Amino acid sequence: MEITFYGHACFALKYGGKNILFDPFISGNPLASGINIDEIKADYVLLSHGHQDHVLDALTIAKKNDATIVSNFEITSWYGTKGYEKCQPLNQGGKWKFDFGTVKYVNAIHSSTLPDGSNGGNPGGFILSGDEKTVYFAGDTALFMDMQLIGRYNRPDLAFLPIGDCFTMGVEDAIIASDFIECNEIIGMHFDTFPYIAMSDKDGAVDAFKAKGKNLHLFEIGESKTF
Ligand code: NI
Ligand code: MN
Repeated sequence: MEITFYGHACFALKYGGKNILFDPFISGNPLASGINIDEIKADYVLLSHGHQDHVLDALTIAKKNDATIVSNFEITSWYGTKGYEKCQPLNQGGKWKFDFGTVKYVNAIHSSTLPDGSNGGNPGGFILSGDEKTVYFAGDTALFMDMQLIGRYNRPDLAFLPIGDCFTMGVEDAIIASDFIECNEIIGMHFDTFPYIAMSDKDGAVDAFKAKGKNLHLFEIGESKTF
């Protein structure tokens, strides 16, 4: 599976033969100024919650690619009010089978107001499964005990976890989360974009995961890696 990082919490996955894009926030991210959103391919745009730093470029990219937006009911309904109907709503605990695999929308502890102040429902994360590796994209979240359910019943091979602290888990809690979800391959996200989430010691973060027998993968913006 090829994974490309577009900054902040935005990743593209080639999964089940389709292009899956998570949480596009690119045009508002000075660190991602080298990324041209017109060149991003997406069959599906998955939005973990309604915050601007996760949805900013979703409609632009979805329209350009005729992509399906996948998110909670309130967020997909909000896109409906903007005239974009190609959406798949989910809500916590629910899953949907797509042509690339199955997506389950799971809990996150965070908030989810949309950029214009509309109700963005409850924030979530996604579990992708199918012929490819099982992937957990946590979205913005705190550490919470129910992550153990994901470890017990979904056993992700690979997980995207926020590590930037302040608005989400920091490194210490992300390490505990990786235990809860029983996953040793972690891709870090949601750091450095804003001063509040600047990470001064990335090597220390990688070492802290390594000390627990886990790999923390940190991408450069624009970088692709194969898992
Ligand atoms: Ni957020
Ligand atoms: Mn965020």
